Amino acid sequence: MARQFLLSLAALPLFQRGFASPARLEARVTGTLDSWIAQESPFALEGILANIGSSGSQVSGAASGIVIASPSKSNPDYFYTWTRDSALTFKQLIEMFIAGDTSLQTIIEDYISSQAYLQTVSNPSGDLSTGGLGEPKFNANMTAYTGAWGRPQRDGPALRATALIAYGQWLVDNGYTSLALSNVWPIVENDLAYVTEYWNQTGYDLWEEVNGSSFFTIAVQHRALVEGANFAISLGKTCPDCVSQAPQVLCYLQSFWNGSSILSNFGSSRSGKDANSLLGTIHTFDPEAACDDTTFQPCSSRALANHKVVTDSFRSIYSINSGIAAGQGVAVGRYPEDSYMDGNPWFLCTFAAAEVLYDALYQWDKIGSITIDSTSLAFFKDVYSSAAVGNYSSSSTAYSSIVSAVKTYADGYLSIAETYAPTNLTLSEQFDKSTGVSISAANLTWSYAAFLSAINRRDAVVPAPWGETSASSVPATCVATSASGSYSTATATSWPATLTGGSTTAIPTSSATATKTTSPSTVASTTTSVTA
Ligand SMILES: *[C@@H]1O[C@H](CO)[C@@H](O)[C@H](O)[C@H]1NC(C)=O
Ligand SMILES: *[C@@H]1O[C@H](CO)[C@@H](O)[C@H](O)[C@H]1NC(C)=O
Ligand SMILES: *[C@@H]1O[C@H](CO)[C@@H](O)[C@H](O)[C@H]1NC(C)=O
Ligand SMILES: *[C@@H]1O[C@H](CO)[C@@H](O)[C@H](O)[C@H]1NC(C)=O
Ligand SMILES: *[C@@H]1O[C@H](CO)[C@@H](O)[C@H](O)[C@H]1NC(C)=O
Ligand SMILES: *[C@@H]1O[C@H](CO)[C@@H](O)[C@H](O)[C@H]1NC(C)=O
Ligand SMILES: *[C@@H]1O[C@H](CO)[C@@H](O)[C@H](O)[C@H]1NC(C)=O
Repeated sequence: MARQFLLSLAALPLFQRGFASPARLEARVTGTLDSWIAQESPFALEGILANIGSSGSQVSGAASGIVIASPSKSNPDYFYTWTRDSALTFKQLIEMFIAGDTSLQTIIEDYISSQAYLQTVSNPSGDLSTGGLGEPKFNANMTAYTGAWGRPQRDGPALRATALIAYGQWLVDNGYTSLALSNVWPIVENDLAYVTEYWNQTGYDLWEEVNGSSFFTIAVQHRALVEGANFAISLGKTCPDCVSQAPQVLCYLQSFWNGSSILSNFGSSRSGKDANSLLGTIHTFDPEAACDDTTFQPCSSRALANHKVVTDSFRSIYSINSGIAAGQGVAVGRYPEDSYMDGNPWFLCTFAAAEVLYDALYQWDKIGSITIDSTSLAFFKDVYSSAAVGNYSSSSTAYSSIVSAVKTYADGYLSIAETYAPTNLTLSEQFDKSTGVSISAANLTWSYAAFLSAINRRDAVVPAPWGETSASSVPATCVATSASGSYSTATATSWPATLTGGSTTAIPTSSATATKTTSPSTVASTTTSVTA
């Protein structure tokens, strides 16, 4: 996009260029994708922290550790805390902490303590032991939201378990197993119990609209159960219900594949093309996994075929996408039938489209080859016209060409976001499909978290593996099952001073770089391709 802008700018008469806003003009002329990323990254982190209580500058009244979805109180009113948005935000902050940002430790612990309390708050979905963990949102002061809403939403407990396990495993790896046992495991155990009990029941999807079964929800539930069982073992515990249910969750997940793309929801009359599936893929990415179709890994044929189907569905319906050919980044929304706020692209969906591809690049580099089959062929042909079914080793010219083309394609989605993000760097929820102007909730916490996640993957900073390599085998027969959960109040919410207070010397860093892997050259070395 930077290149397209330069071309169109050059075509303008000189006097018109003179009338453009100097700041904006400068940003677009000299701005490469890399320079936007360099500015947006620290701003995004600040934007997240500004939306977390109790000291966040934009969210006065929010309790300690509580993530507010957006400071916007009207049109739309997002001044609440959602379990999903909060977990995805802290999944990102914990990843940044593990990669070396030790200043985030206190707020991570505040979040964990806040969730121990929130689990006990009776709400319209139930109480701790009767389904209350599936409540999607709470008031900023941690009281129940009692108005009508699309509830329950069963992805929340799974996502929260994933976020907490990442921190808990870091504690274990750094010699704080007893702290992980006392302060993290009891919360995780409740969330895992919820998943084992309810995964096979319907609920509302991540967009809070479809009462049914959702790919995103089932995918993140499977991941949570697998890593929950592994986390239990690392604590000297067990999660037998995780072990019994996970294969059946994976079995059910297969039914969302319709032969050519992912049907994101059962229980809706929509086409099924939905960024739900892109988000499901990036949030179940395992850096050690093969390109497994069963778990829809980012480099799998299924995920790539689906990426094309989903992103192509937005090419013709948003006028800001007109004229952009297949295989080039576009503005991506939730689903083509969307009518919320008239149906527009979302920043977080556009970032997710990029992130799937950065993840795939990481996996190909690690595996050392790319396989193209009949399922993924159309995806590859869009970016490399001579693509053909076959295996391409990393030593081949075709491999290098494909990797370079996919990197450019991924960057193209970020460049779209760069083009429409305001020069003051704030990220809202949506941008207008015709004008590109930011709309809906301002300073959406999830937009910032989604940006930072995509940028980490672009830099080959990846999360710890969750155990996919031993959890990708699908049972021969799917059965409707559940394991009734056992719940108890998580009580330990104080943290030792040696782990908090921003003292970097007190924080063990032995594993802090362990998950910041050596950048695969294919991902890290092409940062100038957009403006080339
Ligand atoms: C967004 O957050 C920034 C600070 O992070 C703040 O200055 C601004 O007023 C907020 N709201 C809007 C609408 O930009
Ligand atoms: C918590 O917030 C809700 C919603 O703003 C408000 O109605 C309620 O009075 C508050 N409760 C307390 C104890 O502050
Ligand atoms: C429960 O699992 C069975 C077996 O996979 C499946 O046929 C059924 O549709 C599932 N129902 C829900 C609501 O998840
Ligand atoms: C959601 O669907 C389930 C199963 O069809 C139904 O029992 C439940 O009442 C529905 N929930 C709402 C809020 O409509
Ligand atoms: C799968 O879903 C896609 C997207 O809605 C659709 O184009 C395709 O025809 C479906 N395939 C089958 C076999 O139903
Ligand atoms: C590619 O390699 C895989 C795994 O070794 C193999 O199963 C497959 O048949 C190969 N495909 C082609 C087209 O050579
Ligand atoms: C940033 O830019 C957006 C879009 O132009 C605008 O709505 C918002 O008020 C601006 N925020 C600040 C803090 O300048």
